[in-house]
Amino acid sequence: MIVTADPTDVSRAVKDARDNTARIGLVPTMGALHEGHLSLVQAARDECRFVVVSLFVNPTQFGPHEDFDLYPRPLEADLTTCRNAGVNLVFHPETDTIYPDGCATFVEVDGLSQTLEGRFRPGHFRGVTTVVLTLLNIVRPDVAYFGHKDYQQQLLIRQMCRDLALPVEIRTCPTVRAADGLALSSRNRYLDAEQRRSALTLWESLSLARDQLVAGKTDLAAIRQAMHNHLASTPRVNVDYATIVHPDTLEEPSQPLPNMIAIVAARVDDLRLIDNLPITLHTIESAFYASGPVSYPS
Ligand code: PAF
Repeated sequence: MIVTADPTDVSRAVKDARDNTARIGLVPTMGALHEGHLSLVQAARDECRFVVVSLFVNPTQFGPHEDFDLYPRPLEADLTTCRNAGVNLVFHPETDTIYPDGCATFVEVDGLSQTLEGRFRPGHFRGVTTVVLTLLNIVRPDVAYFGHKDYQQQLLIRQMCRDLALPVEIRTCPTVRAADGLALSSRNRYLDAEQRRSALTLWESLSLARDQLVAGKTDLAAIRQAMHNHLASTPRVNVDYATIVHPDTLEEPSQPLPNMIAIVAARVDDLRLIDNLPITLHTIESAFYASGPVSYPS
């Protein structure tokens, strides 16, 4: 496995692999790798003969009072994980490699970046899309892999790639969960036993939405309120949002759609967690189309 902090090494190794007709896969991460990341690596290995993992805790996607300094950086453990997972190259750049002195260019996806996470983390997605574009430019992969847990992030990245005609395919891989449903996250390592019990209410709130919708309930406002109440009644949990949205626009429909995303963000004490669940209602498909277009609040 090649390990480097130098973009020139990355370009050279990727060019050699491409000359040998390998498809190149990129898994961008901030390190502190867990089974969720490994599922992305596995998906990349299934499709690509040369797999690159980037490890970079990106300062521009953290707000001034967020956990940038505390974010875990277990480089040696991550390298061992990558080696065992069959990764071909790990790129772990320094901050001034990604943001050279005087760097003044950012990329921002309008609209989608202002809702949900964007409302609570102003500037977050500007940092994400900027670093992802830079990583795509350095590695030049054929395919890049992202997790469904960061639903809004992968939607924005897809839009950026479309809008800027980037020659890369974006894959979104399913969220990996613990046996009880908690979505895996690098930040989970900071939860003590009690906080972890509280964190599980994110999954419970999503499951509640799915169960009510699958049972035929149609009052989305009431379901959103029930999701919110379930989280808000849990000790140590502060809700940022708990809602049901259109999978492409992230707008809140007023009545059920065939495909929706239940999505939540909450803080357990100081730790901010997000999760989401796609909900498909096969049974309403015909009723939906018979009843005409669904209206969205502006
Ligand atoms: O999902 C993440 O870990 C990060 O947001 C990403 C895509 C690696 C950009 O820093």
